Formats: sequence, structure tokens, C-alpha cells
Amino acid sequence: MAELIVALDVASRREAEEKISLIGDAVGFYKIGLELFTAEGPDVVKAVKGLGKKVFLDLKFHDIPRTVERAVRSAGTLGADLMTIHSTGGAAMIRAAADAAAEFGASAPKILAVTLLTSMDEGDLRDIGVAARSPREQVEAMARFAVENGADGLVSSPMEVGALSKALKSGVLFVTPGVRPAGSAVGDQKRVARPADAVRDGATHLVVGRPVMAADDPAAAARAIVEEMKGAFA
Ligand code: C5P
Repeated sequence: MAELIVALDVASRREAEEKISLIGDAVGFYKIGLELFTAEGPDVVKAVKGLGKKVFLDLKFHDIPRTVERAVRSAGTLGADLMTIHSTGGAAMIRAAADAAAEFGASAPKILAVTLLTSMDEGDLRDIGVAARSPREQVEAMARFAVENGADGLVSSPMEVGALSKALKSGVLFVTPGVRPAGSAVGDQKRVARPADAVRDGATHLVVGRPVMAADDPAAAARAIVEEMKGAFA
């Protein structure tokens, strides 16, 4: 069964804790990204874990293998359950991340690779010297590369998850943002998918921010998304 992850896109630990308490049992998994982590530091990860929730630490590590290895170890020690790295850091960096995660044994955090930031287009790829591939080709090539080198899964837009989940071996995690339940505002997301469609296409986790965090009743909004997800195979 696919899991809902709510993005704690807020600037303070106090706001994060307030939302988590409002949402209650409706959600068991939260994403902490650069904004909140940079404001509050590792204590915010410990606080969310202390509330009995799982944490997706989305800091997109990209550095020399030794540094990434040590950062993954630190994040694992904090209790992060999922974390992100950039696949463009290279094979040795991805393997270093996977090896550091494996040290945690049965409670090993899962390493997700970012293939290509969805904010980047053909022109951006040319600027960084990737002229031979379209964004779609780059995403698929980097997805294979990351998984071959030990990544447990990928961050994938709902537009790509169908093709990637067919192209890659089973068991790969697909964590998909850009999801909007029925009747909710699209915001600045350009291409969105409904929860059930993303799950049917192979998403194992959906990352949803504003439709829950900005809802009048965040718990009800989260429950409605979980119901939509359950409807994927009905
Ligand atoms: O509020 P919304 O549901 O759009 O939030 C989606 C979350 O997923 C945000 O934390 C955003 O940074 C993240 N994300 C995204 N698109 C990507 C990668 C991550 O929206 N390609």
C-alpha cells in the first residue's frame, strides 16, 4: 500500500509541531526540507521522530563521496527514514550513500536519488553540458544509473513514474510530488496528477504539501487523500 508523506514546508519547529498535532493519526510520515532544516537544525528531525512519525529528510546531498557518506550516517543517526541525494554526484557518491545507510541494518534509511530537477529544461541541460539528451532521456538514464549503483528509489514526477516503474526492477521506491486531490488548488505546480492515478502508475509514496498544510481541516484533507490512494486499485 502506497504511503502519504506530508511536506512540512514551514519555517519553524513550532508551526511544524502544531500541524502534526492537528493532523494526528491521519498521517504517519512527514517531509523535512531545506527551509525547515536550515531554520531549526537536526532537533526538528528528532522532534518529529519523537512524535512517533517517520521522517523523509529531503536535503538532496551532492558532495564528494566521503562527505555524503558521513552526512548519510548523521541523518541515519537522527532517525531519518528516507533521504535524498543527487544522482549527478556520480557512481562512487551514490554507492557511498547506500553503504552508509546499510550500516543501520534492519532500520537502514532508504536512499532516494533525484534524477533531474523538474525546474530544469532542455536549455538548462545544455548549459551544464548535457546536450545529447532531452530531459526525459536524462531522467531515465539517471534513474537506471542511480538504482544500478545502490539507490533504493527515486524522486519522480507523476508524469514520469509510469514509464520509470515499468523500466526498472521491481522493489524500487517511487516518491512522487506534484499530486493534487480532487478539488484542490494546483498552486505553482505545472503538471499535477490525482493521487489514485499516481499510485496506479507505480508511486510507492506521495508527497503532498499545501493541499494538507493549508487546508482548513488538515486531518480531513489528509484522510481524503489516503482514501483516494486506496481507490487506486478498486
Ligand atoms: O505544496 P505541494 O504539494 O506542491 O508541495 C510539494 C512538495 O514536494 C514540496 O515540498 C516541494 O518542494 C516538493 N517537490 C516538488 N516537485 C519536485 C520535487 C519536490 O513539488 N519536483
